[in-house]
Parts: sequence; C-alpha cells; structure tokens
Amino acid sequence: MGGSRGEGPGRRRYAVVGTGHRAQMYVDALLGPHAEVGELVAWCEPNPARMDFYDDVVRAAGAPLPARYAPEDLDKMIDVEQVGTVIVTSPDHTHAEVVVRAMDAGADVVLEKPLTTDVAGCRRIIDAVERTGRSLVLTFNYRYSPRNTALKEVIASGEIGDVTSVHFEWVLDTMHGADYFRRWHRRKDLSGGLLVHKASHHFDLVNWWIGDLPSRVYASGSLQFYGASNARRRGLIRRPARGSNRTTRNDPFLLDLRDDERLKRLYLDAEQHDGYLRDRDVFTSGITIEDNLSVVVDYARGATLTYSLNAHSPWEGYRVSVNGTAGRAELEVVEREAVLVGKDGRVVVDPSAVTDAAAGGARPRGERLVVQKHWATAEEVEIPAGEGAHGGGDEKMLRDLFRGAEQDPLGRAAGLLDGVRSVVVGVAGNVSLETGLPVRTADLRLGLG
Ligand SMILES: NC(=O)c1ccc[n+]([C@@H]2O[C@H](COP(=O)([O-])OP(=O)(O)OC[C@H]3O[C@@H](n4cnc5c(N)ncnc54)[C@H](O)[C@@H]3O)[C@@H](O)[C@H]2O)c1
Repeated sequence: MGGSRGEGPGRRRYAVVGTGHRAQMYVDALLGPHAEVGELVAWCEPNPARMDFYDDVVRAAGAPLPARYAPEDLDKMIDVEQVGTVIVTSPDHTHAEVVVRAMDAGADVVLEKPLTTDVAGCRRIIDAVERTGRSLVLTFNYRYSPRNTALKEVIASGEIGDVTSVHFEWVLDTMHGADYFRRWHRRKDLSGGLLVHKASHHFDLVNWWIGDLPSRVYASGSLQFYGASNARRRGLIRRPARGSNRTTRNDPFLLDLRDDERLKRLYLDAEQHDGYLRDRDVFTSGITIEDNLSVVVDYARGATLTYSLNAHSPWEGYRVSVNGTAGRAELEVVEREAVLVGKDGRVVVDPSAVTDAAAGGARPRGERLVVQKHWATAEEVEIPAGEGAHGGGDEKMLRDLFRGAEQDPLGRAAGLLDGVRSVVVGVAGNVSLETGLPVRTADLRLGLG
C-alpha cells in the first residue's frame, strides 16, 4: 500500500470504520494472526454500545484500547491517530462518503463489498482514487475459496476452450436469505438491493472466472415472498413487528436477539442509542428490495451470463455451468443442506447437529467440480479442503491483505476496477428493473477499463 502514514519499522496503523457484525473478522485478525504487522488504533462508529463490545474483545486479547471517533470526525481521526489504512465495514450506502473522506485525509482503504450502491457513488470513489493516488483494496473473499479458485484454474488452463456462456444460480435459504429483510439491507437506498449487496460477489466471480467485462445487462425481479402484502396473501396475519419477543418464540422467521449474547450486545443493547432494529419481522411493510431476481449479462468478447438469485430457498448454495468451445465445467456447492426447526420452534443453526439430518437427506453438504470435454467422459476435479468462513476464503484473503500476496498468478487480489466492474452489473440491473429495458454499461460512463 502506498504513502507513509502508519508505515516504517513498526506495525501499520489501522482504524475500523463501522464496528458491527463484519468488523469482527478484521479485529480478530489484527489481534491474532496478523498482530505483528498491524495495530488497531481507532474505531470510527456512531454507536457507543457497539464500540463497547469491541473494546471488550480488544481487552480480552490484552491489547491497548483503540481511540473512539464519531463518523463526522473521520478526517480528524486519521490525522490525530496517524492512521495508515482504514478498514471500512459500515453499511453499503456510507461507503462512497467514507472512502472519499479517508483518502482525502491521507489514508489507504480496505473496503468491504459492495464498492457502493449506485453510479454516483462509483464516480466519487473513482475520482478520489485518481485524485489522491491512495490504495483501495476490495475484499472479495469468495475468489479465495478453493472451489472458486479451482474453477478459475480450469477455465484459465484452456481445458474447456473459449467461454461462450455461463449459467449461474444462487439460492439463499430461509435463514441467511431472510436476514436481508430484517434490517438496513431491506431498503434499496441503503443496500442497493440484493443485485448490488449480495450479487456483486457473484458478478465479481464471473468477471474474474472468464476474464471479461460486462457490456449489457437486463434484469427482471420482484418481491414475492417477504413483505407485508405477500404475507397477507398467504394468510400470515397478526405477526409481531420484531423477533425479540418472548411470547412468539416458535416461529422460525423471527430472530430473537436474546438467544445470542453477541447479537444481543451488538444490536439489542445498542438500539437505545440509534434506534437500529436488527430483528424486524420479515413480513412487515417497508421492504423495497427484491427476493427473486433474474439477470442476463452480455460480455464484451461475446459470452453471455444467465444469473438468478432466490432469497427464500430451503437450502443454500450455488450451481455454475460454464460452456466453452472445447467442453463444459460444472460447479455445485451446497453450503447448508436444510434449515430445520428444533423442538422449541427455533431454527437449528447447524442442521447436521440434529441427529436424523446428519446425512443431509438427498442433498448432503459439499462441493463438486466436474469437467467434461467434447468427445470424452466427465471427470471430477479435486478441490483442496478449505477451512473457515466463505469456503475457506476469509483466512487466505486476510493473509494477502495484511501481509501482501506472495504469489497471485490467478489475480485474486481485487482493487478499484474489480469493484466497479462487479457493482456495475447490479447498478445497471437496478436501472433495468426500473425501466424494463436492457442497459449498456458503457452508457453509465464509469470506465470499466
Ligand atoms: N464480504 C462479506 O462476506 C461480508 C459479510 C458481511 C458484511 N459485509 C459488508 O460489511 C459491511 C457491514 O455489514 P455488517 O453486517 O457488519 O453491518 P452492521 O449493521 O452490523 O454494522 C455496520 C456498522 O456501521 C456503523 N455505521 C453506520 N453508519 C456509519 C458511518 N457513517 N460511519 C461509521 N460507522 C457507521 C453502524 O452503527 C454499525 O455498527 C457492509 O458493507 C456489508 O456488505 C461483507
């Protein structure tokens, strides 16, 4: 990373902007495996209770407590604390403002996906990087999971020839998928909807797998499962407004924050300060995002992508088929085989913990990559075991992030251009959803490179 702040013989000085759920991965990394190269010096966050939570994490690790700053003092924080890099884990709609201010104040940025939520945000970030010369790393952890890397290797090897089309289906289950309808993600102005917030991971994967640029996007989708009017249509009436209510425990769609000490401290105990409700019923009104989405993307060199996202599936995972001039590759991943409900009416987080579900029924958890060339039988490609979150992606990404990539022949480290190229599909998709027409990415004038 460029610049002089926070560098030198000592450790690089990091500040975390937004101390909610996602911040934990970076905090743990800087207190644990990467403590010798990086130091946590400040929090920038509006909610004191969430900073209290992370202060306890730091205290337990025996490290000095970071200084506290409000969002409006971001620039002051970077100056006073001599911050070299800010790690941005605040909500999506804040990304552009935070990146611009951090770079103008002289810091490099590690930014959680998505880059931002709209065209204006992309332009502001591109301009800040060009103007300041600061470094922007976008943390696309999915590139690092061994199965996704394995598919990249198959395509890059030329085994299936030139890519002509990709079919990509992603299903989010009634546990993970439902969670996007409880809090800020449920509003398109705050998250960009699932085409931006969630699918930018997936569009980045396709861009990276096939090494091409998206040129035209057509999207169709709607809210068909969550939300008040869908619930009414299915007879789901008289529901509580939120999940943390002891009388309504036996409902798998309700999230009771008191069941999980971490969630309770991060959100329930914190809501008195900002009114941020983490556990809203998924069948309340006010949802402005879609839960079923289909997208067709044309790529510059001629390939097409057909993509779909469903956010209320009974299982979670994805299927990708890549057609090439010499054959076809298929990746199937089951991340959670089922969402089950225990005797107490609550969702079982790990279904394999429930005895009769241990075998996963007809769809066991796992992953399979199959390659079939023309005039040949199919062959299964071995996928190296990956441990930890996001298919083992998080650990590898953190090592590259904090220590620098030793070798990156597949180009896994992502920067500004990758962020723009992935988010542009969702942003163009949102325009297409509004107009009913296909959108040429060139017309958004973002300079995809
Ligand atoms: N790569 C991944 O797999 C992954 C997973 C989860 C979240 N994320 C990303 O991480 C980011 C945060 O998600 P989360 O689930 O932790 O959300 P969260 O709501 O749990 O946490 C966000 C925090 O930011 C704070 N905040 C709000 N406005 C702020 C501002 N202007 N400046 C500083 N802090 C502000 C909030 O008070 C909250 O503490 C999102 O961009 C999300 O897309 C990425």
